[in-house]
Amino acid sequence: MQANKSHCLFGLATLFAWSACAPVNDSLPAIPNVREDHHSYSNPDQVRVSRVELDLDVSFERKSLEGSATLHLKRQGEADEVVLDTRGLAIASVEAAGPSGEFSASGFALGKPDPVLGAPLRVTLPPGAERVRVHYSTSPDASGLQWLGPAQTGGKKHPFLFTQSQAIHARSWIPIQDSPGVRVTYSATIRTPKELFAVMSAEMEARQPSDAAAPGEYHFQMPQPIPAYLIALAVGDLAFQAMSERTGVYAEPSVVASAAKEFEDTEDMMAAVEKLYGPYQWQRYDILVLPPSFPFGGMENPRLTFATPTILAGDKSLVSLIAHELAHSWSGNLVTNATWSDFWLNEGFTVYLENRIQEAVFGRERSEMESALEVQELREEMKKLEPRDQVLHIDLKGRDPDEGFTLVPYVKGMLLLRALEQAAGRDRFDTFLRSYFDHFAFKSVTTADFAGYLDEYLFRNNPGLAEKVAVGDWIRKPGLPQDVALPVSGNFERVEALANRWYDGGAALSGMPVGQWTTQEWLRFLRALPEGFEAERMKELDDAFQFTASRNSEILHQWLLMSVRSGYEPAYPKMEEFLASVGRRKFLRPLYTELAKTDEGRRRAAAIYRKARPLYHPIASATIDEILGIASE
Ligand code: BES
Ligand code: ZN
Repeated sequence: MQANKSHCLFGLATLFAWSACAPVNDSLPAIPNVREDHHSYSNPDQVRVSRVELDLDVSFERKSLEGSATLHLKRQGEADEVVLDTRGLAIASVEAAGPSGEFSASGFALGKPDPVLGAPLRVTLPPGAERVRVHYSTSPDASGLQWLGPAQTGGKKHPFLFTQSQAIHARSWIPIQDSPGVRVTYSATIRTPKELFAVMSAEMEARQPSDAAAPGEYHFQMPQPIPAYLIALAVGDLAFQAMSERTGVYAEPSVVASAAKEFEDTEDMMAAVEKLYGPYQWQRYDILVLPPSFPFGGMENPRLTFATPTILAGDKSLVSLIAHELAHSWSGNLVTNATWSDFWLNEGFTVYLENRIQEAVFGRERSEMESALEVQELREEMKKLEPRDQVLHIDLKGRDPDEGFTLVPYVKGMLLLRALEQAAGRDRFDTFLRSYFDHFAFKSVTTADFAGYLDEYLFRNNPGLAEKVAVGDWIRKPGLPQDVALPVSGNFERVEALANRWYDGGAALSGMPVGQWTTQEWLRFLRALPEGFEAERMKELDDAFQFTASRNSEILHQWLLMSVRSGYEPAYPKMEEFLASVGRRKFLRPLYTELAKTDEGRRRAAAIYRKARPLYHPIASATIDEILGIASE
């Protein structure tokens, strides 16, 4: 037993585990087990930060967080310095404290800034130093912060601030070892203007503004160790509404009631995952609905998912995003990708869990339609990706981790788990997944760790299984392997047939049985039509179904994209309004890209962008700058 184990461990350290442990995949070339993080300057192998205590003032006038971060250190070796990540931080002073607890000034050096990675902060440690305290302030253009003026909020009266730390932007507001392989507990004292409320990805002393002991000063505790990319803060005119004992919604007062209604199935979703993969480990699960400039759909900040308001469709049709962010409480927040090259372990598992939640709460047909749409988007995107970006374990050395943010880790990752589920049988695969989450809870995992665990706990006791799913190909090769188990939807087959019949002149729109169609079917219908067909035919569709007036962000986005492709002018005012009011990058990028394809479209895009840019988050505007060929300042 012992000998066998060390044999496997040897395999794990050098090769994909199964090449050493299981002969079936001997032919595979090795993938090394890489824990080294190319996107952090920090030195956790020598000195590891284990706890962060923040004390920050929020200044909307200066657009700056000002104060200190006290870091608790665990020495792993004999190093006499701790290296932290920073980006655009102004460091005022650094102190260090030894076992006696006294802080005194310490030497430090800020290295040369790299445009992607920022600058290393090297702090000299006196012998026995166990804590360092960095006094600092953030820059007004910090990449992880967005400062909104009152005009960019729903209420129009108060400013708003939110953070977005993933992937490597925590360092733009906290000097920290900003690597997903380093976990910290944290506490925070946040001072804000009195009329505003602060929330964080942590246990909150005041559940809602009326609970605050002293308005304008808020206290937080995060007792579970998390990677830096999950530290999050938002400040604004926020209200709270409970949905169940342990779930609730934060949003601007005008939004909170409708959001609580939209997300009322959250508790059922939690129960569904708990039944499959074990207890929820973070006590509460709240959702913060941000102003429309939030650049992502959602962000799984622990205990407090951040979400775009564009999923408030009024009919719960877009809540798979909540299922997704909730699922990260297991895949991502509990079991975390060790490096950004292992991002698919976060997102692929999460999309798989998302689909399982949707199936449990809304039924198989809905979840299959949703995954079929995801797969279709993956296929479209993959056509444009270089082979090196079509693999699950992606080489990001020398690149911005944002470049790995494609549907490959998400949907190809999900399809690998689906293939394994199909080969092993659902019960066996669920048991395996549950043990994976237990085994790696609060740890960071590499692709090789996953493969080793899969080999040992699924393949070994199920002879013949390893031959059924070519895991090595999935991870290393571009494209989709032969053994892909595609989602099937009877509804979609009918919708596609109707779309084609109408387009070919064989069916009238008036006779279509659209009364019961869901958002997913409408999306499938629109996407089944050929690209860039005649504007007159767009008008026929619009007259019949009022797409230009759609209040569903996904349907409207799809329609606007088609309108640009077809030059369907009646939709242009709506498109301008959409681009000037929504900052979600997933919607902006395709629209601007499509516009930029013609001279006239490019001019139109530039005019819209001039007005809309102040609304957009730095992450989104960097993307649009690139599309429109505008040099960023
Ligand atoms: N963790 C991601 C968002 C993210 C990833 C931000 C990488 C920065 C870097 C989040 O869970 C996510 O995947 N959001 C998706 C929505 C989801 C339903 C696919 C998004 O925002 O589009
Ligand atoms: Zn995700």
